Amino acid sequence: MIFHVLTLFPEMICEATSHSILGRAIKAGTIQVKPVNIRDFAINKHGQVDDAPYGGGAGMVLMAAPVFDAYEHVKKQIAAPNPPVIFLSPQGRVFSQPIAQALSCCEGKEIILLCGHYEGIDERIIEEIVTDEISIGDYVLTGGEPAALVLMDAVSRLIPSVLGKEASHQDESFSGENANLLEYPHYTRPADFRGRKVPDVLLSGHHAQIEKWRREQSIKRTKQKRPELLS
Ligand code: ADE
Repeated sequence: MIFHVLTLFPEMICEATSHSILGRAIKAGTIQVKPVNIRDFAINKHGQVDDAPYGGGAGMVLMAAPVFDAYEHVKKQIAAPNPPVIFLSPQGRVFSQPIAQALSCCEGKEIILLCGHYEGIDERIIEEIVTDEISIGDYVLTGGEPAALVLMDAVSRLIPSVLGKEASHQDESFSGENANLLEYPHYTRPADFRGRKVPDVLLSGHHAQIEKWRREQSIKRTKQKRPELLS
């Protein structure tokens, strides 16, 4: 899978994807993260990519032309005729595990992510190139980069072979049978930590009882912490 990220801060994208599981998947070639600096397509030699809003008001607006030129530059490298272009913005549909799952199977396996900045982005670029608008939650970030990183992380780990043996998404929250349940609690050694003991059932070796206990814990937790998931 290849993520092309149109951004004003390519270093943020490179740095944050160079560690842990994503870093390993990139080294192994399972995924590629290719940031494109929108400033490389600035309208003048001063590196200008933003301007004051028509109609007045505070802040600056990211201009359509540099974004469009960056997009055209990326599009030349993509075989598929109409790759998805996802604009990260608080106005988008709210990101979720089913959206991550759908994107992880995206046809052509190349996605363009557009990170906005400043007060906003010229609406005409959204009309012209954007195929989907995604928000990572109902709050406003200073830019789209952290949102693009969240999306790439959640999508990448669903690609076969990205997660090693040490982690698995078979029985985790928000997917499959557990679509509306939080995960059960996990424990590792020691069996007694400052007087807090690991539940006996987990030491019993009785797989059916362990399964039953985990399911019950998932339901209990969901009722306590996220009751809205059950309604
Ligand atoms: N850019 C600014 N805020 C955002 C959000 N909540 N989700 C996605 N992109 C954003």
